[in-house]
Amino acid sequence: MLRRRHVNVKTVKELDAFPKVPELYVDKTAMGGTFSIFTIFIIAYLVIAETSYYLDSRLQFKFEPDTEIDAKLQINIDITVAMPCGRIGADVLDSTNQNMLSYDSLEEEDTWWELTPEQRAHFEALKHMNSYLREEYHAIHELLWKSNQVILYSEMPMRSYKPDYAPNACRVHGSVNVNKVAGNFHITAGKSLSLPRGHIHISAFMTDQDYNFTHRINRFSFGGPSPGIVHPLEGDEKVADNNMMLYQYFVEVVPTDIRTLLSTSKTYQYSVKDHQRPIDHHKGSHGIPGIFFKYDMSALKIKVTQERDTIFQFLVKLCATVGGIFVTSGLVKNIVQSFWYIVCCKFLNSEKKADQHGPSVPLHSTSDYRAPDTINLFDVAAPQSIDIMLKPQ
Ligand SMILES: *[C@@H]1O[C@H](CO)[C@@H](O)[C@H](O)[C@H]1NC(C)=O
Repeated sequence: MLRRRHVNVKTVKELDAFPKVPELYVDKTAMGGTFSIFTIFIIAYLVIAETSYYLDSRLQFKFEPDTEIDAKLQINIDITVAMPCGRIGADVLDSTNQNMLSYDSLEEEDTWWELTPEQRAHFEALKHMNSYLREEYHAIHELLWKSNQVILYSEMPMRSYKPDYAPNACRVHGSVNVNKVAGNFHITAGKSLSLPRGHIHISAFMTDQDYNFTHRINRFSFGGPSPGIVHPLEGDEKVADNNMMLYQYFVEVVPTDIRTLLSTSKTYQYSVKDHQRPIDHHKGSHGIPGIFFKYDMSALKIKVTQERDTIFQFLVKLCATVGGIFVTSGLVKNIVQSFWYIVCCKFLNSEKKADQHGPSVPLHSTSDYRAPDTINLFDVAAPQSIDIMLKPQ
């Protein structure tokens, strides 16, 4: 079935919000042209800027309390100490006074302190990369998070040859799951022994001269692998010049949830302060020589989300920009032009009269001007109705 509907052109005409001014009344000036060109350039620039801002995404940081209290915290460790494994013990104690180390989760492996040239090159690269990231971190972390690249550097290459002397170092590596409370991971001389009240390290048959807590940190991180997290301790190497050295690392762990357009991950960032001193009981510097990592959990977590405007937001912004600039430039042009007319009115008028055949059209007196012998487009009769055919659905 076809329906006919009569739409009165007059009604539609009256609704026109874009009234047309006949060409005749439009006064084109060099100044107006210059303003138009400027306006077009500004609009083009802003449209390009707005588009690139839309295409790019931003990271938003929010803080909120960490509610996952009972979740476990995974600590990943790979540390080489310049003492044979028989002489040292690794341990984790947390503030619940619980000894968290299930013995098979951290491996102790005899090795050599000296690295092969390939391993040395790898370690130096790691060290360099990490110190660079630490300094330039804020410039680069967005890129790393957005890129979703998990592995920044590969694993340490395997030893290509074995030295002809007995292993002189111990590599302690593995992952430990601990409670999400403050704790202490440490490597000291002697094997640890858990007692009902705390624990001790038994280091019989060792003289102070055997101590050497020179160490190298290949890995020290929390949680699973995640893109773009920099571990400030990785690539750290400390060579002891004293047998009785105490190394302390104070680590503040901040849970971080990263939600990018590509992935979602729960991870941990940490900041670290380190301190070292020789133990000398005669000089009042007490303590136990060893390597101590004191970690503490932040009560707040950071939520990072990658965000970008929706297409509608983008279009609204674009229209606002274009329209705003257009109107503003028109306003500025009118002000400048009025000013110009006020200042040079007489001069312009006389000049125009001299070289124009028609009468001049000053800005503020166009209303009742009508050039002779022209057809007014308004007088042309328009058809009274128009038929629109609508097809049924
Ligand atoms: C500890 O071992 C490292 C590496 O073998 C060595 O350079 C350093 O001099 C040693 N320190 C002491 C106090 O023996």
